[in-house]
Amino acid sequence: MPTSLPPQGPSLWLDRHHGIDTDPWRDGLEADVVVVGAGLSGLATALAVAEQGQSVIVLEARYVGAVSTGNTTGKVSLLQGSQLSSLDRSLPRELLDAYLAANRAGQDWIRRFADAEGVRLEFRDAVTYASTDEGAPTIEAELDTASSLGLDVTALSALELPIDIAAAVSLGGQFQLDAVELLAALTRAVRRNGGIVIEGVRALDVDSGGPCVVPTDRGEVRGDRVVLATGMPFLKRGAQFATIQAHRSYALAYRWEQPELGGMYLSVDEPSRSIRDWTRPDGRYLIVGGNDHRVGTGQPTTARVEDLAGWTTATFGGLTETHSWSAQDYRVSDGLPHFGPISPGEDRVFVATGYNKWGMANGAAAGISLAAQFAGTSPDWATALRGRVPTSSAIRTTLAAGATVASDLAKGWVGAELSSLPEDGPAEGEGVVVRDGVKPVAVCRVDGVVSRTSAVCPHLGGIVAWNDVERSWDCPLHGSRFTATGDVLEGPSVTGLAS
Ligand SMILES: Cc1cc2nc3c(=O)[nH]c(=O)nc-3n(C[C@H](O)[C@H](O)[C@H](O)COP(=O)(O)OP(=O)(O)OC[C@H]3O[C@@H](n4cnc5c(N)ncnc54)[C@H](O)[C@@H]3O)c2cc1C
Ligand code: FES
Repeated sequence: MPTSLPPQGPSLWLDRHHGIDTDPWRDGLEADVVVVGAGLSGLATALAVAEQGQSVIVLEARYVGAVSTGNTTGKVSLLQGSQLSSLDRSLPRELLDAYLAANRAGQDWIRRFADAEGVRLEFRDAVTYASTDEGAPTIEAELDTASSLGLDVTALSALELPIDIAAAVSLGGQFQLDAVELLAALTRAVRRNGGIVIEGVRALDVDSGGPCVVPTDRGEVRGDRVVLATGMPFLKRGAQFATIQAHRSYALAYRWEQPELGGMYLSVDEPSRSIRDWTRPDGRYLIVGGNDHRVGTGQPTTARVEDLAGWTTATFGGLTETHSWSAQDYRVSDGLPHFGPISPGEDRVFVATGYNKWGMANGAAAGISLAAQFAGTSPDWATALRGRVPTSSAIRTTLAAGATVASDLAKGWVGAELSSLPEDGPAEGEGVVVRDGVKPVAVCRVDGVVSRTSAVCPHLGGIVAWNDVERSWDCPLHGSRFTATGDVLEGPSVTGLAS
């Protein structure tokens, strides 16, 4: 890794929260609802369930906020880049109405919870902008769709930022937060309502023949229902794998000595740029994000971080960089979130996923929707989203995604065949997949230590690729990620790379 790049992580949110109080593991755990995953979706679901009097246990493989929520940019907005006009092009209007209603419900839920629990929200205008003429029609489309949905959006001709724009649209009254402060408050509230939150327990499977049994790496947990709030669901049933793609992007934080911003910004031009500020006791920060790519593709990832840092310097001048991190999120083919049964007719195992990098309001909506379903009710928006049938465009996207997965699978195996290990092994910070007999092996060198593991992803056989900025092995098929020595970091794989 070039020395100009700082080490990755922790995020601006995770660096201040050194451990959130949780519960110890014990044998014989049993509850009405077992939630797997302690990000926003899992904890919002757990709290909504606990508040309606059901017992709940949350199992978290790593620690609260370890994956997407602890590494988000944390804008809670109904104007979401060009999401509304993009959905409008491919979906019936009632589904777009349901999507907006879900997000409004999720956003209101977070606002009420934050008010009650003293979680700080900073209110801002959400702004989507284009800095090129090619991007201007996208802004017009977003303005039209958002207005037609009843959002009080306005067109802007200039930004407070040193960025020339061709067009921009703004929506007032949105907010930004410290996502880990929110998760810490949610964890406290779940436990106060009788729920149990346990870190360091990885769920390995779900047996849903009768009341569910969840085998974990610590022992079994039982529940009437199980919610997989794990990003990509890890069970190899349901139709999820065919419809979901994992996308990763990068964020940098800088000291920001200037006044608070009035907006939080997202560009529609490629590569996209996300910009917001945040003030905490040790000062004010500017956060810049972007350079999205499919997990396990688009290497070298160092180039993506360097590009983001270079753009920030060119735009804002020489700021002092303080944090660098990255994260991934999941997109369903039709662009809508999926919260409901893992497969049609299933009444014990549920999922919450597919937020397309807008999982703050959507994650809270997942909790509202699932808890309502368990209580035998359902808001209209949840019923509409759950009952949707694939559109022709979603079917085309699913088929294209399937073809990409097949091609990535083939490319990985062929690439391993063609690569050879440098005589002295990989250089510091580098990794390579090579063939050892018939087996592809992943060899890397980190801090002088050469590690060698299988390159075959235990999930469904993808060949991992080296992520040089995070020094991890990433699978292009469904987004599983592993440390240099093969331990699972995230994604649907529940076991590490074989040694
Ligand atoms: C760079 C970036 C910026 C973003 N910015 C925004 C934004 O500004 N606004 C917005 O609305 N959204 C944003 N998002 C999206 C949002 O952050 C996510 O959609 C949201 O955090 C997802 O929450 P989650 O609870 O579903 O997943 P996560 O927070 O990833 O939680 C899932 C948890 O499940 C655990 N887990 C996984 N497998 C297992 C297992 N087998 N057993 C036990 N536990 C398991 C994981 O360790 C993890 O902690 C952004 C996303 C990214 C990547
Ligand atoms: S994540 Fe599915 S094969 Fe690797």
